[in-house]
Amino acid sequence: MSKTIAVIPGDGIGPEIMTATLRVLDALDCGLAYDFADAGMVALEKHGDLLPKATLDKIAEHKVALKGPLTTPIGGGFTSINVTLRRHFDLYANVRPAISFPGTKARFENIDIITVRENTEGAYLAEGQSLSDDGQTAISMIRNTRKGSERIVRYAFELAVKKGRKKVTAVHKANIIKTASGLFLNVAREVAKEYPQIEFNEMIVDNTCMQLVMKPEQFDVIVTTNLFGDILSDLCAGLVGGLGLAPGDNIGEGAAIFEAVHGSAPDIAGKGIANPCALLLAAADMLDHLGMVEKGDKLRAAIRDTMTHDRDSVTPDLGGKGSTSSFGEAIAKRVKG
Ligand SMILES: NC(=O)c1ccc[n+]([C@@H]2O[C@H](COP(=O)([O-])OP(=O)(O)OC[C@H]3O[C@@H](n4cnc5c(N)ncnc54)[C@H](O)[C@@H]3O)[C@@H](O)[C@H]2O)c1
Repeated sequence: MSKTIAVIPGDGIGPEIMTATLRVLDALDCGLAYDFADAGMVALEKHGDLLPKATLDKIAEHKVALKGPLTTPIGGGFTSINVTLRRHFDLYANVRPAISFPGTKARFENIDIITVRENTEGAYLAEGQSLSDDGQTAISMIRNTRKGSERIVRYAFELAVKKGRKKVTAVHKANIIKTASGLFLNVAREVAKEYPQIEFNEMIVDNTCMQLVMKPEQFDVIVTTNLFGDILSDLCAGLVGGLGLAPGDNIGEGAAIFEAVHGSAPDIAGKGIANPCALLLAAADMLDHLGMVEKGDKLRAAIRDTMTHDRDSVTPDLGGKGSTSSFGEAIAKRVKG
């Protein structure tokens, strides 16, 4: 039986990397049908709205979306479309795997860290921000809730169990941000007791940055609040060679949106040289989410194999001479085999 997903190609390099990704998904023969939807600049031009209701309806209907990067125009009072999507569907878990791939310019090999970032609260609130009339004092608010902390920590432990991971590290700053970060840490300690089979440790965020750069092999699954997760997951992406290989999964109870962490890359849009791997890795996570774990693993293995044995096909950001389509074709050929 075929499963329909919402597909949002997005802006800039979005349509190029989405075409390559769908080509690989078709070659994988996973029985997916695509319901295309507009968002971002494309939607603003076509429908006069960055995020049309029809797009929200399609995501709600299919419950799973694969999304290209979106450009939120600077100025003009536009709210980030990505933040709006996360709020609208209460996509509380932002899961960002960082995995080493061969042939990348990276400091380490054999990195395999999943950052689970709380995606809806913490320091990323629209409300509670103010600037004094004289422009001298700015105030913003951090709000962590027991419910929000509990569900993200539980999500991280459940993910660890499902993926056969051994350890969860809760990252915090409870020594200084005593109430907000303290609540998160206390809840993490409580939830950890429900999972005695998974090792639990806690680490202050500044030390975590240093430890990640010096001894990344000590990390397995990291769970943390919104701002720390945003920063640490980019640090982890840097450990494995940059954003071209970083998928980002946004998971809620009623919907899930899978995307690349990188943006619409206007500097290379239309040149056919964008690396499709981050979106392909997001598609692999989407297949896991849909219960097609073998297909997801096959896709990751095909990416790895292409990067090892078909260097001519890979895109320039990874040191190759290939294009988005040659990279996509080489991966598609391998998933068929
Ligand atoms: N999830 C999203 O939709 C998302 C995320 C981040 C940024 N954005 C938006 O994207 C736009 C551009 O942002 P930016 O320039 O700061 O970041 P960016 O990630 O688009 O680009 C940063 C650099 O990385 C390169 N790059 C990015 N993706 C690449 C790929 N797949 N292959 C090869 N090179 C790649 C770009 O060429 C550029 O040099 C902004 O409007 C921003 O708001 C969207």
